[in-house]
Amino acid sequence: MKITVINGSEKRGVTDRLKEIFLGKFRGEAEITEFFLPRDCPNFCAGCTVCFLKDEHLCKDAAYVQRIEKAMRNADLLVFTSPAYVFHTTGAMKTLLDHFGYRWMPHRPAKEMFSKRAVIITQCLGAGGKSAAKDIRDSLSWWGISRIKVVSFKLMSEVVWDRIPETKRAKMTEKLEKAAEQMRKIDYAKPARTGFMIRMKFCAVRMLQKNLGKQNPGYTDYLYWKNNGWTGAKRPWKQD
Ligand SMILES: Cc1cc2nc3c(=O)[nH]c(=O)nc-3n(C[C@H](O)[C@H](O)[C@H](O)COP(=O)(O)O)c2cc1C
Repeated sequence: MKITVINGSEKRGVTDRLKEIFLGKFRGEAEITEFFLPRDCPNFCAGCTVCFLKDEHLCKDAAYVQRIEKAMRNADLLVFTSPAYVFHTTGAMKTLLDHFGYRWMPHRPAKEMFSKRAVIITQCLGAGGKSAAKDIRDSLSWWGISRIKVVSFKLMSEVVWDRIPETKRAKMTEKLEKAAEQMRKIDYAKPARTGFMIRMKFCAVRMLQKNLGKQNPGYTDYLYWKNNGWTGAKRPWKQD
């Protein structure tokens, strides 16, 4: 199986330790590709909207973004990690997610995303881990992913791994290993089931796209939906 990991920080700190515990269950049997932010996608979205209106390959940062997109589309499992920074995901992660605005369902979602699984690992000192996970989850869900597992921690002690009490570290390890075991048992040859909410979102956007297409048949997003057959009977979660 293939795993693509997007790390919201380059720091080899607590978040990285937690991620390594999770990945430990897959090492030796999975092909793991990792990206570290901001290194692998260092520039902010400039808001030029060329990706929305014309073509994502025209983005000034397309070389960074498309490399990550390719790895995500090829993966069976996506893993996102982030510490909480001022109650949210890191700025570096937000920068990456902004670049994938064109993949939100009202624009041009990638077909493969509808059958993927994802895990989000976040941690914080006292509060904000859940909202950091939500920042990431919102994008993944609007990309079309239904099966998203969140594993979030409150350190409540120290922010340096070796100084966190042993009992706390053991509890976090146990929770992560359990989550990893659950994800390992999945038969990745079978696509994940697309959930009710994602289907509803898709149907609402489909109506929107059909209306937009009537007003402007040359509209980029409409043409994408039409060419995929989604304004007709085809659905991204169904095999052709
Ligand atoms: C800029 C910054 C903002 C932070 N904001 C929060 C916060 O809002 N809530 C919280 O509980 N911890 C906060 N923390 C602590 C981190 O979430 C995290 O626990 C700590 O940085 C250790 O993780 P790391 O080693 O992976 O960086 C913050 C840390 C930094 C550097």
